[in-house]
Amino acid sequence: MFSQVSLRVLAVAIALLSQECVAQFPFGGIPPPLRTVTNWGDNPSNLQMQVYKPRNVAKSPAVIFALHFCFGSGAIYNAFTKYSSLADKHGFIVVYPSSLDETGCWDVASKASLTRNGGGDSTGLANMVKFVISEYNADPAEIFVTGSSSGCMMTNVMISLYPDLFAAATCYSGVPAGCLAGSPSSSPISSDPACANGDIIKTGEQWAQIVYNMDPGYNGRRPKFATLHGTADNVVSIKDLGEQIKQWSTVFGINKTSEHPNTPQKGYTQLIYGDGTQFVAYSADGVGHTVPVNENLDLEWFGIINSAA
Ligand SMILES: *[C@@H]1O[C@H](CO)[C@@H](O)[C@H](O)[C@H]1NC(C)=O
Repeated sequence: MFSQVSLRVLAVAIALLSQECVAQFPFGGIPPPLRTVTNWGDNPSNLQMQVYKPRNVAKSPAVIFALHFCFGSGAIYNAFTKYSSLADKHGFIVVYPSSLDETGCWDVASKASLTRNGGGDSTGLANMVKFVISEYNADPAEIFVTGSSSGCMMTNVMISLYPDLFAAATCYSGVPAGCLAGSPSSSPISSDPACANGDIIKTGEQWAQIVYNMDPGYNGRRPKFATLHGTADNVVSIKDLGEQIKQWSTVFGINKTSEHPNTPQKGYTQLIYGDGTQFVAYSADGVGHTVPVNENLDLEWFGIINSAA
């Protein structure tokens, strides 16, 4: 039935798949189970809240909000990332929320979700932040957000709407805050493709104005932000990294000061803005959708581990 060649192709495919699994579940097969939390607050868009709270949780723990990609869920993102296992080691809490919308995407398009306390997904997520602070005695100065693809788009939105709630953010393969505003949906299937195609081009000032308008009058410090994108991404264009860079370097009022090739790994270029403490971007050469999550980079950026660790 099978030729030698196709058997070999099959064997290689299985080997690659299992390598993929090893890469995704490096701490022994099955990710730690999440606990579903109910009654966490006003939930206007029917989100689900799942939490990983380690046994040895810190007295006043840091919290990482980890936002899934489209067609994903908190449970899938828990399997895709190592934050829960790392929480066992470092005593922080992980929140893996889920959009229960049919596409499993975060709403980064509707007026409700792009308005502070506007009654969309962003409002539900902000209410989860308030809940973890009151319910788990989380440190309000150590609330972090990250995500992949749709989760990265939502990260850009959350730090724009609620700069007061988050200390820092990282994210993988997304778009600037407001890029999908007015699109009929946030799903790759039914949204206006212009944003994902990298065809929404604005000046830094225009992008920054969108952020300012999302929390009018906000004058405090803003969450520090590191954003990563692959140059070979054919789902969300690498041009959207350039647009995010314009947006956030303008908001922070800083310019590019240096470029570091092969940082943190071969083929990635780290682009430092200002003194490198507020905004950093990474362009991953030849990497597609999405850039693999680098939890170590996230924890360093959040200050949960130090760079020497
Ligand atoms: C950034 O670069 C622009 C254009 O060269 C310049 O006008 C601006 O003053 C610079 N900003 C800072 C903070 O260096």
